Amino acid sequence: MIRILHFSDIHYLPHLGTLALRDFFALRRIAGWLNYALFRRWRFAASDAIVDALAAWSAKEAFDANLFTGDATSLGTPGEIELARKKLDVFAHLPGGLLVIPGNHDRYVLDTSAGNRFDATFSDLYRSDLPETQTDGHWPQVRLFGSSAAILLLHGALPHRNILFSSGSIPEVQLAGLDAALSHASLRNRTVLIAAHHGPFSSDGRHDSIFHGLDDSDAVFARLRRHPGAIFVHGHIHQRFYHPATNSHIPVFCAGSATFAGRESAWVFEIDHPTGNRAIPADFTSGGWVARYENSVPLPCNTKL
Ligand SMILES: [Fe+2]
Ligand SMILES: [Fe+2]
Repeated sequence: MIRILHFSDIHYLPHLGTLALRDFFALRRIAGWLNYALFRRWRFAASDAIVDALAAWSAKEAFDANLFTGDATSLGTPGEIELARKKLDVFAHLPGGLLVIPGNHDRYVLDTSAGNRFDATFSDLYRSDLPETQTDGHWPQVRLFGSSAAILLLHGALPHRNILFSSGSIPEVQLAGLDAALSHASLRNRTVLIAAHHGPFSSDGRHDSIFHGLDDSDAVFARLRRHPGAIFVHGHIHQRFYHPATNSHIPVFCAGSATFAGRESAWVFEIDHPTGNRAIPADFTSGGWVARYENSVPLPCNTKL
């Protein structure tokens, strides 16, 4: 059995010592600072302790993989990115390692994007077992686990000039890599978690807005429907939810935020479990993380066809 911990949107807060005046030569970051000062500061005040507890729980549970789907920072400044890398290092040193995708806050403005600051700081964690399908720089990345599971990571968090937009989009050149990976013999007969930062739907099941969601989700999901064992997992929305498969889309799991006060959440995916694949919600409660096995969700199974 393969067990994967999926968490997202930890939003470490900016420490004064990590900020420089030049970080604020962008309207988005000034707006982001106001958002931080008025709202986020309180919601994510305990991120440090909660993520440390998650790492301790992961070590105890010996998960086969730790998947983080972005928004490690709040304003995406170089100092925050460095700090987030140091703090997440504990996952990278676990046997399951750390798989990571940047979120829109980690590629907040053009300076962090143009300098590829997140990639420069986290790219030692980037690796693909199918490098021939990496059509867009580091992306997509494919990681194989045992003979039954895989994780395919897509990156679509690109900065917007318009501060009203926080949506994402998977570049066409990366979709070519997705096509190549999904038709690769190594993924046949595996359950594949397709991981991105942005998702297609809101928690109520409606399409997320053009301001906030995954822009090209129809193009992405038309491809994913061809793979019988594909499951889409993402972050970006700070509320955990699950939408079962329909005729038009594969199952979709949003991890919510691991650190949003009062809504701390994650998922555990168990692939090749003796009674079938399943997803288990995990909550932070009374200072520690627990899996709610009583609320497990069955998953499609693509092994032993
Ligand atoms: Fe977020
Ligand atoms: Fe986000």
